[in-house]
Amino acid sequence: MKIVYDSVQKTFHLQNKNISYVMKIIKDGYLVNVYFGKKINKYNESNSIAYYDRGFSPNPDPLDRTFSLDTIPSEYPAYGNGDFRVPAFQVEQKNGSRVTDLRYKSHNIYDGKKKLQGLPSTYVEDEAEAKTLEIVMEDKLIGLTVTLMYTIYIDFDVIARSVSLKNNGEEELNITRAMSASIDYRESNFELITLYGAHINEKNIARRKLVPGIQMVESCRGASSPEQAPFLALVRSDTSEDSGEVYSFNFVYSGNFTAQVQVDQFSNTRVIMGINPSDFSWLLQKGEEFQTPEVIMTYSSDGLNGMSRTYHKLYSTRLCRGTFRDKERPILINNWEATYFDFNADKIKEIAKSGKELGLELFVLDDGWFGTRDDDQSSLGDWIVDKNKLPNGLDDLVNDITNLGMQFGIWFEPEMISEDSDLYRNHPDWALHVPNRMCTVGRSQLVLDLSRKEVCDYIIDAVSNILSNSKITYVKWDMNRHMTDIWSEASEPKRQKETAHRYILGLYYILEALTTKFKHVLFEGCSSGGGRFDAGMIYYMPQTWTSDNSDAVCRLKIQYGTSLVYPPITMGAHVSTVPNHQVGRITPLETRAHVAMSGNFGYELNLMNISQEEKEMMKEQIALYKKIRHIIQFGDFYRILSPFDTNEAAWNFVSNDKTEFVGMYFKILSEPGSSIRTLKFKGLNPDCYYENLETKKVFGGDELMNVGITVNIVVKDFISKLWRFKKTSRME
Ligand code: DGJ
Repeated sequence: MKIVYDSVQKTFHLQNKNISYVMKIIKDGYLVNVYFGKKINKYNESNSIAYYDRGFSPNPDPLDRTFSLDTIPSEYPAYGNGDFRVPAFQVEQKNGSRVTDLRYKSHNIYDGKKKLQGLPSTYVEDEAEAKTLEIVMEDKLIGLTVTLMYTIYIDFDVIARSVSLKNNGEEELNITRAMSASIDYRESNFELITLYGAHINEKNIARRKLVPGIQMVESCRGASSPEQAPFLALVRSDTSEDSGEVYSFNFVYSGNFTAQVQVDQFSNTRVIMGINPSDFSWLLQKGEEFQTPEVIMTYSSDGLNGMSRTYHKLYSTRLCRGTFRDKERPILINNWEATYFDFNADKIKEIAKSGKELGLELFVLDDGWFGTRDDDQSSLGDWIVDKNKLPNGLDDLVNDITNLGMQFGIWFEPEMISEDSDLYRNHPDWALHVPNRMCTVGRSQLVLDLSRKEVCDYIIDAVSNILSNSKITYVKWDMNRHMTDIWSEASEPKRQKETAHRYILGLYYILEALTTKFKHVLFEGCSSGGGRFDAGMIYYMPQTWTSDNSDAVCRLKIQYGTSLVYPPITMGAHVSTVPNHQVGRITPLETRAHVAMSGNFGYELNLMNISQEEKEMMKEQIALYKKIRHIIQFGDFYRILSPFDTNEAAWNFVSNDKTEFVGMYFKILSEPGSSIRTLKFKGLNPDCYYENLETKKVFGGDELMNVGITVNIVVKDFISKLWRFKKTSRME
């Protein structure tokens, strides 16, 4: 891994063993991107920019009609000085002008990677793991400096990018757009992959050919949202799961975002990603600096599985932090779908006791334990135990359950406030609202104004009061509505457009404080399921409830789509009852378990209502997951068959040393006359012999990958099969 500045060519070359990223300073200090892709040893301008007069493209130098910012592959394009494509940033000046002109000023290359103040970001544990390049660009007229930051890792094929804008001038500047990354490709022969969805239908995969103009995904919901994920990939038409080029972009941020791909009039492609400029601005007083969140760009020539393995490894080892990063996660039982709001201490203890008998490790008390919360109409904000439900208090319940030998976890929705709550009665101004306007409620609740420090500190105290001196070791952190009525009582009018971003900074401040204070607590993020399942949250919370949809068939797609970017260890996945509460489907318990075992495993059903036979099956499932979870949670994940393309799904998990693997196959609807399927596993050691732990038969890794294994026909809907293989020296 190295970053080389060639002072003759004026090029920056970031390189590790697989990828290269090259920029060049041209003409009077403009910075352009000249290459991103498979590693090259030395860049020597074989693809030099061809300049010629393009008629309608304006020229900064009146004597040179061949040079226009409208046609060059800019690295961080400005608005208003000749480039008519979508700009990477825009800054409003005191005289009303929005035009800027950035030129190269200086650069700095160093080992390691800096922390981004107040923001989640990938990190290094040793400076030798990465190198960082900072390029300072300057608009001399207004005293604006823009520092472009690039980190390349030795072991991950990514470029981590972010930008900081500083006002070194005399007059205040108003940032109205500040992308975290921008790149121009001198071609448009790509297809675009994005992730879209809705509540209980998260992370569907969309793939389409690029067309001229802008295609974009965004959120203006105040959270990264289930509607569109802050992710996009450009691929070739023949790119598959295992071969072909992928350029991808993922935002390490949990709020409003935009990700745009623009194919311009000359068939160049620009990609930008950053905070959504719609309803955003940020005032920079003299001397102040604004730091954007980070974008993780990857390049893979091994298709989408290659891209995913890069994200999985980076995120699980250098984005996720804390005690639980490298720890096997407990198998939990959650009472939400078992009881909803209708529980008392006895009911909870019965479920926990039965769970313990089955081998479950963690009991999670979901919504309804505080205030007078018998439905979703009240009490958010009043984090005080409801003595009607738990007459002996929370500690008594926690003690009873931990005495069983189980861990205890609890649900909060700290960012919200119910109008029917003491918190609201005492602090109505703490909710986001516009004076004299009616507030929009969502799930009968309002959103707390996390742009205010006193509100953040209240949340830290309220959650700390419950967690301090208690044996609680897990928190489910929920967030069940999106932001409206965005206005803050604490901000001056010209700063109101900062509120949505300040909210996210407030959220990160809270999470930093709580996860630092309660290092022994495992935090699981949730936003009505996967409504805020993003890289920003992974920095604070090592796992996320993937979807409120717990139906095994729907989950195949949801988990397949989520796995494009996020590793299985981050995906909360539970076995629930049938008929399923979200879609009414009846699927076999075995299939439900195999789907849930493909992530961070748990149960969410009333154990008092299940048969002895089912209990025996669950016992076996739990014992099995304990044997394979090190492979599922820390191994490599390979998608094999897509539920988006077929009536099937399949994937396999391979341990890091490739001595063990787990394969899974799912058939959704039974099909008459279908051929016998062989399934080819992926990522095995071709020179290793693996024993099928069920049949004891031994096969070479090469045979299992190239010939495949027979999947027997079962004449039923919704079937699944799980294989376990282990390295052996025996070969028959
Ligand atoms: C939405 C979550 O996604 C559910 O799992 C559950 O915690 C409910 N909220 C509780 O209100």
